[in-house]
Amino acid sequence: MNTTEAIQKRRSIRHYDPAFNISEKDIRELIALAMLSATSYNIQHWKFVVITDPKLREAIRAASFDQSQVTDASSLILVCTDIKAWEKDMPRKWKDAPKEVSDFMVARSKVFYESKDQLQRDEAIRSASFAAQTLVLSAISKGYETGIMIGFEPEKVAKLINLPNNFIISNFVVIGKGIEEPFLRGGQLPIEEVLIKDRF
Ligand SMILES: Cc1cc2nc3c(=O)[nH]c(=O)nc-3n(C[C@H](O)[C@H](O)[C@H](O)COP(=O)(O)O)c2cc1C
Repeated sequence: MNTTEAIQKRRSIRHYDPAFNISEKDIRELIALAMLSATSYNIQHWKFVVITDPKLREAIRAASFDQSQVTDASSLILVCTDIKAWEKDMPRKWKDAPKEVSDFMVARSKVFYESKDQLQRDEAIRSASFAAQTLVLSAISKGYETGIMIGFEPEKVAKLINLPNNFIISNFVVIGKGIEEPFLRGGQLPIEEVLIKDRF
């Protein structure tokens, strides 16, 4: 399936076959693809928390307005993101680049983010969002159905997964075999309203 087809095929699926299994190898491969998403200064804010414990899935479902996909989809991945990733391990994130590039990126990233709380948070969510979309499109290309979710109680879920300080759960991604046709698309706004030339 090419990218255009995957984008057109993607719909939010809410009901899944609980008996359907996706191998750990496939999930690992999908996460490895998501990790190739663009990220400012190559910061890679993301952690992909794959929830495999059925009891934990139940508890997360209870904190997610009882949405059935949380327990029934083959895979539940919590895309978490580290607000402070910009100050962690930057030389390691540039270790394969030429030294002058690496030195420049490490120094510039510090200047760019230091003392800018809103920007640090925005960037963490941005990186996680790109990664979630890559994860979803990769899963669709492999023939699975997916859903992205923010319908959960963040404090409760954070507690359930021992979310570290300064991390946010950006969104959930569910992947599996859908057992229903999606709703008709709600309707896209006309491109004339959305595509703006040069200035508002
Ligand atoms: C950030 C985000 C959070 C969402 N949260 C939920 C959710 O908690 N439960 C749900 O059923 N759908 C959720 N959705 C799916 C949206 O309702 C859906 O993307 C939208 O209606 C467009 O439909 P489509 O994805 O099928 O094109 C979410 C989508 C996004 C992007």
